[in-house]
Amino acid sequence: MSLIRLEEIKKDYRLDGVIVPALQGINLEINQGEFFCMMGASGSGKSTLMNLISCMDRPTSGKYILEGEDVSQLDKNALAHLRNKTIGLVFQNFNLLSSATALENVELPLLYGGVPAVERVKTAKQLLEKVGLGDRLHHYPTQLSGGQQQRVAIARALVNSPKILMADEPTGNLDSQTSDDIMAMLTQLNKDGLTVILVTHEPDVARYSKRVVLMKDGKILKEEKR
Ligand SMILES: Nc1ncnc2c1ncn2[C@@H]1O[C@H](COP(=O)(O)OP(=O)(O)OP(=O)(O)O)[C@@H](O)[C@H]1O
Ligand SMILES: [Mg+2]
Repeated sequence: MSLIRLEEIKKDYRLDGVIVPALQGINLEINQGEFFCMMGASGSGKSTLMNLISCMDRPTSGKYILEGEDVSQLDKNALAHLRNKTIGLVFQNFNLLSSATALENVELPLLYGGVPAVERVKTAKQLLEKVGLGDRLHHYPTQLSGGQQQRVAIARALVNSPKILMADEPTGNLDSQTSDDIMAMLTQLNKDGLTVILVTHEPDVARYSKRVVLMKDGKILKEEKR
């Protein structure tokens, strides 16, 4: 059974009465444990597809089967619940809370989940140690480098033990050395069993992946296996 299965997925945005066909019939299967990468020109539909896969949004038509369950037409609450337990998200601009320390940022999803303080701190500390930031627990985002901020964001994405880590341009704001560090970290997490789904513009980043799909005009143009 595939972890993710998309059948004839279409997504239209409606803007000022005009329909923008952002995805035009996507068929795709992603298995547990894959390191999957999406590339393609700006506007080709990569983020739209990421939003659907990560249950942030619903398709206009088509079927999305996640772990054997048809989630295409679930309501917002059900999608949010599914996302929280299955998927960790990482973004280009890190999306950390600036008024919270590294530790507090990683704790946040657990706080929402009602986990008691002692356990929250313990889990958040462990994850920050895992991403090499055991000595930066009480730093605020502005006191951290870009790469360190992204590592905090990765630790936060892992805090609910997701099966899938999805990252849209995770190295877009980082220099090439720092990008390599982040990609090495994602590679290690993937080796440990995490399914990684990534969007990037950069061939240097895509080469970490064994399977690269190229998007064009809302469709999959081609796929490369390495
Ligand atoms: N909320 C929206 N409302 C209307 N149109 C949208 C919306 N979001 C995206 N689009 C359009 O859908 C198409 C796909 O956008 P998407 O953000 O998925 O592209 P992308 O491949 O992620 O591009 P980039 O590489 O620049 O991030 C684009 O033509 C975009 O203008
Ligand atoms: Mg995008």
